[in-house]
Amino acid sequence: MRLYLPLEGTGPLRTRLYEALRAALMDGRLAPGEALPPSRGLAAELGLGRQTVVDAYERLIAEGFFEARRGSGTFVSASLAGLDHAADATPAAIGPGRHWPPLPAWGGGERRRFNFAGGVTDRRLLPWPPWRAAVQRALRDQAHDRAPYADPQGHGPLRGGIADYLGYSRGLSCRPADILVTQGAQQGLDLLARVRVAPGDVVALEEPGYPPARAVFAARGARLVEVPVDERGVRVDRVPPDARLLYLTPSHQFPLGMPLSLERRLALLEFARQRDLLIVEDDYDGEFRFQGRALDALKSLDRHGQVAYLGTFSKVWNADLRLGYLVMPAGLRGALLQARALSDGASTGLTQIALAHFIHDGHFARHLRRMQRLYEQRRQRLLAALARHQDLWTVLPQVAGIHLALTFNRAVPDVRGRLAAASISAEPIEAFYQNTPARTGLLLGFGALDDEDIDAAVAVLARACGEPARE
Ligand SMILES: Cc1ncc(COP(=O)(O)O)c(C=O)c1O
Repeated sequence: MRLYLPLEGTGPLRTRLYEALRAALMDGRLAPGEALPPSRGLAAELGLGRQTVVDAYERLIAEGFFEARRGSGTFVSASLAGLDHAADATPAAIGPGRHWPPLPAWGGGERRRFNFAGGVTDRRLLPWPPWRAAVQRALRDQAHDRAPYADPQGHGPLRGGIADYLGYSRGLSCRPADILVTQGAQQGLDLLARVRVAPGDVVALEEPGYPPARAVFAARGARLVEVPVDERGVRVDRVPPDARLLYLTPSHQFPLGMPLSLERRLALLEFARQRDLLIVEDDYDGEFRFQGRALDALKSLDRHGQVAYLGTFSKVWNADLRLGYLVMPAGLRGALLQARALSDGASTGLTQIALAHFIHDGHFARHLRRMQRLYEQRRQRLLAALARHQDLWTVLPQVAGIHLALTFNRAVPDVRGRLAAASISAEPIEAFYQNTPARTGLLLGFGALDDEDIDAAVAVLARACGEPARE
């Protein structure tokens, strides 16, 4: 038998020989029951010491791939007859269960010259020196802490910092014990879906709405019902009476931008109380407000534990940290804590401790104030640039958050193709509808747009959207 046994790579020769023999087995070059060359002969052929070959053979014998027959040598184990060889193995024989629907892909996309991507911020603007100091302090703290695992509910001082912050920023009074620290708002959604929604349950969502939230409930096997929004936010009168859960973005409707009116907030809370409905309030960027003080969180009006409040540090700090939080309604507290412990145990301790220091030392509040001023200027500049092309589009009112939406005044065919050709990252609002929208338009994020790019970016956008369609 002549076997091709490449011994390339680094590491001990006995390991490389073992791997080469194993590869020959896996792709069928060594057949079950076949005799292997005597160790001395193979060693001479490969220019190796005999012991190297003996070690590799012994390892394969110990693992059951080879068998030693006293007096007659070493053989490929006969029990490998059932092994599929790499060349004829069928890939993807295992698929997801029947409950797992094909989910639409969303977000990401290539980087383009002008960045109107929604929901992203510019990490270069973070105050890195105090953050570095906070992380170093957290490392020192951990060196003296013997607890091997972080608290599944979240680091106590961080929960305290979040509770204070929600009080002054969102008018929401809650205790650290009501807060569950999560891996971003997305995990909060997933946990709520697990503890509240069974396959077949009705879940109501805004139309248009946030695709990753929809995807979580779809993956749960829920029956999804779209509830339209108008200029005062979600149409409370259209929420199905049998809904178990309603997901909504009351501060800054995603993607259109309007807040939910106070009248509707009160009507919704009353409806929820009568119908045993859980309202999930996603307050993803409500802390950035323009034109005076906008409405506080819907949760601040909740007297009967009907609202689960989702917050995130992705927009106000750094999405890469994957830190968010849930203000848990009392009735779901125990189930949510269990679900969290079962899911991934807890969020990483180090970043939680560092963020707690960062908040307690006042750096977070300072950063927020700075970003608020910066976003306000950027937004004004963007609005002024957009106003130069009023024939093309109508900008929808927006009083909070880091994106705005516009609708086209006339049909603009193949918007995606036009954006790509002009090297612009932006999302058509149709992408957020399940049904055919009455209007077409764009979501324009300004969290990562360079200030000096704004005028040029809008001019390029106007040219791209204003050109007649190409044949
Ligand atoms: C509506 C909405 N909710 C939540 C989030 C934040 O998600 P996460 O905290 O998982 O980063 C985003 C981010 O784009 C968003 O647009």
